[in-house]
Amino acid sequence: MSATGRPEIEIRGLHKSFGDNEVLRGIDLDIAAGEVVCVIGPSGSGKSTLLRCVNLLEEPTKGQVFVGGTEVTDLDVDIDAVRRRIGMVFQQFNLFPHVNVTENLTLPQRRVLRRDKARAAEVARRNLERVGLADKADAYPAQLSGGQQQRVAIARALVMDPEVMLFDEPTSALDPELVGDVLAVMRQLAAEGMTMMVVTHEMSFAREVADRVVFMDGGVIVEQGPAEQVVGNPQHERTRNFLMRLLDPAAAEQPGAEGTADGPDKER
Ligand SMILES: Nc1ncnc2c1ncn2[C@@H]1O[C@H](COP(=O)(O)OP(=O)(O)OP(=O)(O)O)[C@@H](O)[C@H]1O
Ligand SMILES: [Mg+2]
Repeated sequence: MSATGRPEIEIRGLHKSFGDNEVLRGIDLDIAAGEVVCVIGPSGSGKSTLLRCVNLLEEPTKGQVFVGGTEVTDLDVDIDAVRRRIGMVFQQFNLFPHVNVTENLTLPQRRVLRRDKARAAEVARRNLERVGLADKADAYPAQLSGGQQQRVAIARALVMDPEVMLFDEPTSALDPELVGDVLAVMRQLAAEGMTMMVVTHEMSFAREVADRVVFMDGGVIVEQGPAEQVVGNPQHERTRNFLMRLLDPAAAEQPGAEGTADGPDKER
């Protein structure tokens, strides 16, 4: 997508502090156009903050972020123009509860992109189809399951024609039986060539869809590489401990159970 031949997302020496709490301590990461990167790591490691710095929901303390070759951390940048190019999906779907699904998808297009009613409705219809919810166009959010609401939230991001999509634990709030439909939509987006940064603990999704897995801890990238390497054969003890806890919380709590190299293999 980047016309410059540069990575679609470039993160350079990124630091973010909240008061005395340095949450990001120097992140360098390039994501190529069409690449899918899954970000994993313990609670508080800075995953959400990293995503939020990419679309300027947080202002970095130091460092640079480029999206499609444009420096979004440039103080003179048009923040609204930047956000338009970056779709974001959160754990909580945050749909407008008082309007129906179609209006949830048309209102932002009309307000932000100034699309006329007919065009906005057509784009909404197309994207509802894309997430498999064409039949829910007239439903209100409360009439949908959590998984359906999250797919509407994905469609709402897609109607803005984003260059990249950021997902922050999009399935964590869902009942297990609803997770699959949301992951299927994300898998399809990846196959269509969307550039995606996905914070997730869904290791099977990471293994199957991610071009690269990035493990963060304490505000730094500890290791990264193909999923089969980072998830299947982690090189760092911190990664091994994290994965072991994720895959088998009970085992990880037993004394002496941490750091054994065979932990992550259990998932295979
Ligand atoms: N707006 C904020 N103000 C102050 N501190 C914040 C703010 N946002 C995040 N933090 C702190 O930054 C640290 C990293 O938070 P962040 O949400 O990025 O972690 P995370 O890796 O996404 O964790 P989780 O897996 O629990 O979502 C935490 O210590 C958190 O308390
Ligand atoms: Mg988070």
